[in-house]
Amino acid sequence: MKALVYHGPGRKAWEEVPTPTIIDDTDAIVRVDATTICGTDLHILKGDVPEVTDGRILGHEAVGTVEQVGSGVKNVKVGDRVLVSCITACGSCRFCRESRYGQCLGGGGWILGHLVDGTQAEYVRVPFADTSTHAVPAGVSDEQVLMVADILPTGYEVGTLNGHVVPGDVVAVVGAGPIGLAAIMGSRLFSPSHVVAIDLAATRLEAAKQFGADVVVNSTHEDPLEVVRSLTDGLGADVSIEAVGTPAAFELAVSLARAGGHIANIGVHGEPATLHLETLWIKDVTITTGLVDTFSTPTFLRLLAGHQFDASKFATHHFALDEFEQAYDVFSRAAETGALKVVLHRS
Ligand SMILES: NC(=O)c1ccc[n+]([C@@H]2O[C@H](COP(=O)([O-])OP(=O)(O)OC[C@H]3O[C@@H](n4cnc5c(N)ncnc54)[C@H](O)[C@@H]3O)[C@@H](O)[C@H]2O)c1
Ligand SMILES: [Zn+2]
Ligand SMILES: [Zn+2]
Repeated sequence: MKALVYHGPGRKAWEEVPTPTIIDDTDAIVRVDATTICGTDLHILKGDVPEVTDGRILGHEAVGTVEQVGSGVKNVKVGDRVLVSCITACGSCRFCRESRYGQCLGGGGWILGHLVDGTQAEYVRVPFADTSTHAVPAGVSDEQVLMVADILPTGYEVGTLNGHVVPGDVVAVVGAGPIGLAAIMGSRLFSPSHVVAIDLAATRLEAAKQFGADVVVNSTHEDPLEVVRSLTDGLGADVSIEAVGTPAAFELAVSLARAGGHIANIGVHGEPATLHLETLWIKDVTITTGLVDTFSTPTFLRLLAGHQFDASKFATHHFALDEFEQAYDVFSRAAETGALKVVLHRS
């Protein structure tokens, strides 16, 4: 089969590799019908994730058709259409029993395209298939379901839910990439009074309006603190969500929160950020961090099946599976191309 193989920082190739086979009896082999690229894949290609080694097939999001199952797989059947989640769950360790699948101790967690071969391929081996795949609901397009593999649960669980958004809140979201936009959509489910999106790229702020932000701030020429204060009688945001992954964005997110407010960090950070305890100690704030667990995946699949939620607007660009070079190029120049999620379809 063909797959997108990582060959060290800056090097990747769509090349011939062995088709995966069942290794453990709880595995399934899934034919990939649609897959996508995550910002995390760009981090890997920069060399920021050294656990990813030469020869690894990238990708941790897919919708596909089950081709083969191991003898220990009970519920997933050959021919089933499934969502392959970015998080694999053994289903039986302490953390899986607490729905904290991202922290799985039994060989799961974020492993696809990281510690084992991933989904940017014609076929993928999915460990713990019963607890790591979800049936695709009837009447929902592959590309909508694909957005549930990573970005929708991430924005919702690590942003909206960790931030404890409740009706009437003013929610500030720093960073309007796919993850920030997912946090905006997720927060809208709780009827906030305002959702303020803050970014440096005009294309991303345009998108934020489509995804439910009623106020957008380009922080290159507007002060987000002033805007948020003007909406909150000078107090600050009830919930502030960091969806960038830089010290500047984290420090901005912290400064935007009111006394007693929640600051939910989603961004993957590569360097230390300053925590201003000298001003925060008196403010009663709650700061959370997190890796997505994907316990909300069934919720999003039901919202899509009930047509309560339109995830198709994330899919801005479409390619065939063998067009990974072009797809990575468009995705990595998102501020220019307007790319949110690029979808690669089996033709
Ligand atoms: N915690 C998790 O489980 C998890 C899961 C997936 C992704 N992530 C992380 O979430 C972050 C966002 O992901 P994404 O795919 O949306 O990334 P992205 O790069 O597409 O979007 C980030 C956005 O932030 C904007 N930005 C940069 N600096 C800014 C600043 N100082 N102020 C305001 N905006 C700024 C950029 O213009 C861009 O639009 C990344 O760090 C990613 O690795 C975390
Ligand atoms: Zn991802
Ligand atoms: Zn587990």
